[in-house]
Amino acid sequence: MAAAGVASPRFDAESLAAHLLGVPRGQLVLHPRIDRATGDVLGALVGRRAAREPLQHLLGTAVLGPVEVAVGPGVFTPRPETEMLLEWGLAALQDVASPLVVDLCTGSGALALAIASVRPDAAVHAVEVDPDALVWLRRNVDAHGGRVVVHAADVRAPDLLPDLAGRVDLVVCNPPYVPDATPVPPEVRAGDPAVAVFGGHDGLAIFPAVAARAVALLRPGGAFAVEHDDTQAESVPALLRARPELVDVAEHADLNGRPRYATAHRR
Ligand SMILES: C[S@@+](CC[C@H](N)C(=O)[O-])C[C@H]1O[C@@H](n2cnc3c(N)ncnc32)[C@H](O)[C@@H]1O
Repeated sequence: MAAAGVASPRFDAESLAAHLLGVPRGQLVLHPRIDRATGDVLGALVGRRAAREPLQHLLGTAVLGPVEVAVGPGVFTPRPETEMLLEWGLAALQDVASPLVVDLCTGSGALALAIASVRPDAAVHAVEVDPDALVWLRRNVDAHGGRVVVHAADVRAPDLLPDLAGRVDLVVCNPPYVPDATPVPPEVRAGDPAVAVFGGHDGLAIFPAVAARAVALLRPGGAFAVEHDDTQAESVPALLRARPELVDVAEHADLNGRPRYATAHRR
């Protein structure tokens, strides 16, 4: 069977052209002609995309909610699938003044920076273990005025962030959750670090530790949201319900209507 091609070739080519010309994609129609040199560069970029380099690596950036972060080899590219989790987290903070927030498995820092950008009164902490991702994370945090506190740490460490224990208003997490044997598109295989994508044979390897850290960090009534694979709509909520400290466990869909994240509150 022939390998599937790029999912959205026209959108991707237009995005690359807009990036090169420094205009929004919607305004490309105002630039019906480009010079030969620009055409050559665009042709090369389109060729790299056709060879399945991730679009965001060619653009150098990815967007989550209100923020743009730098991405490239060594860090997970934020996905639109995470937008609804971000919205849920922001809504959970609506009536909380000067909230304390922790983003576990932060990667580029997109979720943490998006929350910090919408809530300038928030104190936001971001945890990441991968040294390569930490380089991108620190670069992004610096580019956004140092609004997020970076912690180079493993979420499986039982004593993670002891100073914040029992005080946090919101814990968010988009962990590695793809079952190891799942075939993934070339962009994911070559573009996203394996440590960011795969979560053991059932994809659930890191979830017990993430739930335990959320329980330890959250204040009574604090909110927790964790992203998962669309095959884990029952297993992840079940894992959260198994923790007696968590209540209001609920399952949610992403922008495409697929099961994508579970939420709970600290009893
Ligand atoms: C799916 S990516 C999500 C990145 C980011 N939150 C986002 O939504 O774009 C998962 C991230 O978790 C990190 N990670 C994996 N295992 C970890 C661990 N044990 N402790 C801390 N971070 C971990 C990976 O390096 C990766 O950056």
